[in-house]
Amino acid sequence: MARNVVLIGAQWGDEGKGKIVDLLTEHAEVVVRFQGGHNAGHTVVVDGEQTILHLLPSGILRPQVQCYIGNGVVLAPEALLREIAELEDRGVDVRARLRLSPACPLILPCHVALDQAREGRKGGLRIGTTGRGIGPAYEDKVGRRSLRLVDLLSPDTLERKLAPVYELHNFMLESYYQVAPVSLRQTLDLLHEQAEVLTPLIDDVSALIEVDQRAGRRVLFEGAQGTLLDVDHGTYPYVTSSNTVAGAAAVGAGAAPQRMDHVLGLVKAYTTRVGEGPFPTELFDDAGRHMAKAGAEFGATTGRPRRCGWFDAVAMRRVCRLNGISGLCLTKLDVLDGLPEVKICVGYKSAARFADYGGPSAEPEYETLPGWTASTAGLTRLEDLPEATRAYLKRIEALLEVPIDLISTGPDRNQTITLRHPFD
Ligand code: GDP
Ligand code: IMO
Ligand code: MG
Repeated sequence: MARNVVLIGAQWGDEGKGKIVDLLTEHAEVVVRFQGGHNAGHTVVVDGEQTILHLLPSGILRPQVQCYIGNGVVLAPEALLREIAELEDRGVDVRARLRLSPACPLILPCHVALDQAREGRKGGLRIGTTGRGIGPAYEDKVGRRSLRLVDLLSPDTLERKLAPVYELHNFMLESYYQVAPVSLRQTLDLLHEQAEVLTPLIDDVSALIEVDQRAGRRVLFEGAQGTLLDVDHGTYPYVTSSNTVAGAAAVGAGAAPQRMDHVLGLVKAYTTRVGEGPFPTELFDDAGRHMAKAGAEFGATTGRPRRCGWFDAVAMRRVCRLNGISGLCLTKLDVLDGLPEVKICVGYKSAARFADYGGPSAEPEYETLPGWTASTAGLTRLEDLPEATRAYLKRIEALLEVPIDLISTGPDRNQTITLRHPFD
């Protein structure tokens, strides 16, 4: 029986991870975030009420679930405190169930300023980031100059540690990007305030996970972003700054890799992407507009319209390999209702070598299948799906050689077909 499940996005993010984490935590005791930061926007809908989580693990709405933020997450204190306050106002007891790793690097105002200055620069390489300071914060981590959560425990040393970092970044902001510097004093004042609320939440997340695992509790590792945004394996340089693949769960939570029993890969029944970068199956026609409208494809973090396109089985085969995906969860199936035909990319015409590593962009070859007119919205049994829908799902399973465990037919927890529960 699987007790440690890693849930990851298989595409460019927004596959419906929030919904599925919330659903699966009906049968789990612990949820851990292990990479990314508040660039994530994970939507949970319970009885029609929507909550968008950015930093808090998507198990937070379930009173019996412990939520951990692992060392691999870059943590913006301001964003976290805002999210905690919003949920506590709604009666969710967040702080009683939330623990933060002392090793989380902090995202500070200088990182946000740098991210935005770079993205705003004419002629530069625009990634279309979320503007949250994610990239610069991870740069400081590998540059070995981050302030980490643990530093909040000794407030008197903050200034000594932060001053050289601000000196460096303000030099870049003023002299290179020619924008306003960020005040060291204001950042320090903020950190002193934030430390009061945050320090009681700091705990050894890696050790807590081991205790949970030894006690036989079910642990869900909640990925953010998606595999095609992975800094090593994604569409570099149009990626985020963390590793988003399943392997990152062990590193970013401080958990033993051999304990992971099951990797659940989330894929939309089609494909979306926010921000810049290659997208071989992108559509600019009625089918693409249908997906955008029926799927309400606007970013949960920035509100930007998401680009839409057909399911890319070539990219997904590679993604299954990179993550060792045990089973798939196919989401937003209902969005394809009413399309006269559906297509799956089964090859690339210009068989460019290493196209997936940012080589010459690939031109997709499609297989066309009949669409379906009946509504699949909210269905909970496989038998109730139209024949053509089942044929589409079967074809995807055959192409990827991975079974579909779950099918999502709507944003609510209950709108799901469960074929094999990952924790069973
Ligand atoms: P995440 O980042 O992977 O958690 O995904 P997001 O929350 O950013 O985006 C997914 C969006 O699709 C949210 O608005 C969800 O409420 C919605 N959603 C999730 N699953 C389904 C589904 O099966 N059908 C439909 N129509 N919407 C869904
Ligand atoms: P969830 O967890 C979709 C994208 C941004 C941009 C690139 C780099 O909700 O699936 P960053 O701010 O990380 O430096 O931006 O990555 N991006 C996401 N796209 N879903 C996300 O998270 C994303 N997080 C980052 O749009 O293209
Ligand atoms: Mg999202």
